[in-house]
Amino acid sequence: MLKGKNVLLGISGSIAAYKSAVLCRELIKNGAKVKVVMTPDSANFVTPLTLSTLSKNPVYSEYSDAKTGAWNNHVELAKWADFFLLAPATQNTIAKMANGICDNLLLATYFSMENETFFAPAMDLDMFKHPANQQNIQKLESFGNVLIPSENGELASGLIGEGRMAEVENIIKVISTKDTSWKGKKVLITAGPTYEAIDPVRFIGNHSSGKMGYALAEKALKKGAEVCLISGPTTLSPPKGANLINVKSAAEMLTAVREHKADLYICAAAVADYTVANPANEKLKKKTESMSIELVPTVDILAEIGANKQKGEFVVGFALETNNEEENARAKMIRKNCDMIVLNSLQNKGAGFGGDTNQITVFHKDNKRTAFELKSKFAVAQDIIDTIQSKWLG
Ligand code: CTP
Repeated sequence: MLKGKNVLLGISGSIAAYKSAVLCRELIKNGAKVKVVMTPDSANFVTPLTLSTLSKNPVYSEYSDAKTGAWNNHVELAKWADFFLLAPATQNTIAKMANGICDNLLLATYFSMENETFFAPAMDLDMFKHPANQQNIQKLESFGNVLIPSENGELASGLIGEGRMAEVENIIKVISTKDTSWKGKKVLITAGPTYEAIDPVRFIGNHSSGKMGYALAEKALKKGAEVCLISGPTTLSPPKGANLINVKSAAEMLTAVREHKADLYICAAAVADYTVANPANEKLKKKTESMSIELVPTVDILAEIGANKQKGEFVVGFALETNNEEENARAKMIRKNCDMIVLNSLQNKGAGFGGDTNQITVFHKDNKRTAFELKSKFAVAQDIIDTIQSKWLG
């Protein structure tokens, strides 16, 4: 996988930078061509001479060469690279990447990357688990960057815990076995809420944030799939590479779904079950007497997809239940002809709408179930994608 690849190795200032020299050598041994870009601080931990000797290329850390005035073109460096591997990724550099701060050549190169970025965090355990750092890591994942998880072990401080940069062999494993098994597959995901207009300024909506559907789109893209994300109104940025179709109402979502065929359908949207029978063309005026609005049922998009399912296609539904969860979720799966259904239980603290965490149980057609712990929505999305992979493609 690494043979003939152009790897841009980024190094930021952590004691783990000493491992970057070994990493550089291993990349080359595996057939890659390596150029190195360093933050100014990282030179305190490993010398540019070591890395230029190992990579057989000049090492970049300043925008221009002080002696010759030659400009180090970050855009050219980014274009050269088949991928950017930041190892070690310090808390500081991760935070800057997550927040658009561009105050050195390494960061300018990162922001110019069109191909994939992998990052291997390295820091002390308390820094690692700080919510600010965790949020920044999640933010990078939401940009499509691939996290190479840090490992548990002895840290530079002498403490033992999570935050240690992944071992070189594990980094090589992650970048060389990147799973693109969904290449050529079309995935359709519905996400977010729907808004049913009452009049030109009012609507009936719900609290869905769309986070789950967007995280699923992200993970499916990483597996190489072609992703069509049909989304109700959200404040989220779409994952890079997704074909985003914005809709408002359940009827618009249905039309968009009917226009896009797929191999895998994941219905994560919180679609309104009822819409307003006769929305007003003008803003409704306040009156003293009470009012009622006639509601009519919407088409169940998931049920329609299930009813038209072709051989080889796989359909995933979601169920949000407050009581008789398992029974209701299984009944929904059968009624809508899904291959699996993901249950969000509102009885679990930290699960459901809006927040960043979720706790799910997946029910399968073969009567089996898989229960997961409370996790970030990104980690939950990975569990769902992995479960789909095993049931759909074996
Ligand atoms: N769904 C859909 N179109 C609708 C309603 C629901 O595609 N008009 C999908 C959702 O995206 C989700 C699943 O159906 O995947 C479950 O939705 P839910 O509202 O929980 O189920 P309902 O069948 O509407 O049942 P109830 O509201 O009575 O629990």
